[in-house]
Amino acid sequence: MPTNIFAHRGASGHAPENTMAAFELAYRQGADGIETDVHLTKDNVPVLMHDERINRTTNSTGYIKDYTLTQLKQLDAGSWFSPAFSDSKILSLDEMLTWIHDKALYLNIELKNNKIDYTNLETIVYNRIASYGLLHRTILSTFNPNSMTRLNEIATDTPRALLLSGRHKHTQLVAYAMDLGASAIHIKYQLLSRQLVDQVHQTHMAVRVFTVNKPAHMLRCFSMGCDAIFTDFPEAAVQSRRQFDSQKPK
Ligand code: G3P
Ligand code: MG
Repeated sequence: MPTNIFAHRGASGHAPENTMAAFELAYRQGADGIETDVHLTKDNVPVLMHDERINRTTNSTGYIKDYTLTQLKQLDAGSWFSPAFSDSKILSLDEMLTWIHDKALYLNIELKNNKIDYTNLETIVYNRIASYGLLHRTILSTFNPNSMTRLNEIATDTPRALLLSGRHKHTQLVAYAMDLGASAIHIKYQLLSRQLVDQVHQTHMAVRVFTVNKPAHMLRCFSMGCDAIFTDFPEAAVQSRRQFDSQKPK
């Protein structure tokens, strides 16, 4: 199976992360899927942003959880990246689901609940995806082991990935993820080894790698048979995969 290319927060190397501009660009550049991060607003609406706070990627300050969707919608979510994107807005999950619905793209929704464990985030997000009929091409992921346990109750019909950034020893990673009921692991590139990929595949879990931006690292993931990579540069990844495929022995 070829390695899928997920645009990490959209094509976030060339457009402001987690905005429509970044998602549109990823689609045009030929990504197989989009990865995005979700938090809850004060009025319990799932919105797309990486950080818990709006400071880095908007023209305001504070926590997402302290603002309503209407308030967040007033903000400029693009100028921090470039003045050319000053009309970019924070997106609700619903806007993203409406956009992706008629496109042949996979979706990875990362529940950003490792710092703030938003009440009912799993159920709220799962129900939104289900209402758009998108469960069959969505992967839910989280760094939070308690959230994985909750997902096992709710999202039995959806792939559930445990995110791992490197605090666990190699030999324990797979058993840890399996014990938590994950169906995939999403690992930081620094954790990648052929042994780990083979070990994960023996358990019939999938292994996807973040954040892979260097062509040499992309090629390493392709050659090890990783199920997917997350990259800020989907166009470069598509090109790199084409080159890899053309050099593979027939
Ligand atoms: O989901 C893969 C990756 O996005 C996890 O890390 O911090 O970029 O959300 P982060
Ligand atoms: Mg993420």
